[in-house]
Amino acid sequence: MADLIDLRSDTVTRPTPGMRKAMVAAEVGDDVYGEDPTVNALQERIAALLGKEAAVWVPTGTMANQIALGAHAGQGEEVICDRNCHVVNYEGGAISALWGAQSLVVDGARGIFTPDAVKAVIRANQGDHDPRQKVVAVENTHNRGGGSIWPLQQLEAVADVAHAAGLALHLDGARLWNAHIATGISLQQWCAKADSVSVCLSKGLGAPAGSVVAASRELVKKVRRLRKRLGGGLRQAGVLAAAGMYALDHHLQRLTEDHESALKLSQLVPLAWHRPETNILLADVPDAPALVEKARREGVLVGAVGRTRIRAVTHLDFPLSQVEEAAARLRRCL
Ligand SMILES: Cc1ncc(COP(=O)(O)O)c(C=O)c1O
Repeated sequence: MADLIDLRSDTVTRPTPGMRKAMVAAEVGDDVYGEDPTVNALQERIAALLGKEAAVWVPTGTMANQIALGAHAGQGEEVICDRNCHVVNYEGGAISALWGAQSLVVDGARGIFTPDAVKAVIRANQGDHDPRQKVVAVENTHNRGGGSIWPLQQLEAVADVAHAAGLALHLDGARLWNAHIATGISLQQWCAKADSVSVCLSKGLGAPAGSVVAASRELVKKVRRLRKRLGGGLRQAGVLAAAGMYALDHHLQRLTEDHESALKLSQLVPLAWHRPETNILLADVPDAPALVEKARREGVLVGAVGRTRIRAVTHLDFPLSQVEEAAARLRRCL
């Protein structure tokens, strides 16, 4: 269908003409030698935005998360995170496959867990039986939680519990931009207590590829080495970094439009939506695969999360002006 409306993910966007122009014009060099001026400028810009000493560009959010976690934890060590987080559920088992570490999951509400939940699983003993706990990972906004936003104080309290026990805090901020725009809380504030942060340029910001890990200079050195080990050292990566630069200039503030579209769509389609917080909508339905198929026939692509939940995500290629049409098509499926 020519006018298919694709709401499966905010990763389906295509680079705009302006972004393509910026990519073509990018000044480049060999980034494995640290000589790509566009990559270097983007890394410096994001490190400053997040309030960290240094940053490194990587091709994907998965690589960003995993090399950050790999810098914190290795064989026989443990990552504490919530049951539904991306690093455990959607990254191919990388925590164990790549680093030989294991995850210990706690339960959160829409992916957001309490400091007490972390305290309850901190291992007091450091005996022969005990895995060594190294890092707590949080996700903000939370994908499987339906774009949910951490209360800042709760995130800080979780970081305090982690630090008091000698653990680091990793923030999977693939959609931290959405949390920043939705709350007005600065990116620096969100990241202040995190020892490592990953952010994606290829979700709400609409770049075709690219994520960044920001941390201390020392940790970024380790992360950069792991990027090389995984084959993530791209050469003239500035072509892609230029898309990230353009995205920060042109697509950050407009995330409010995605949040508005999600809210409006939820209001126009009578389903059991979880309270919309940013750009990811979830609704509980009797038969998700059946509804996904019906919607596809009406010209709207949405996703199924298990048997009884659907997901719709708003993004750069879904203008506010299309919301009524999408809603009308979805209503015909109910
Ligand atoms: C919260 C979160 N973290 C990490 C990623 C991984 O990003 P990528 O698909 O670029 O590997 C995603 C992807 O959707 C995500 O939603």
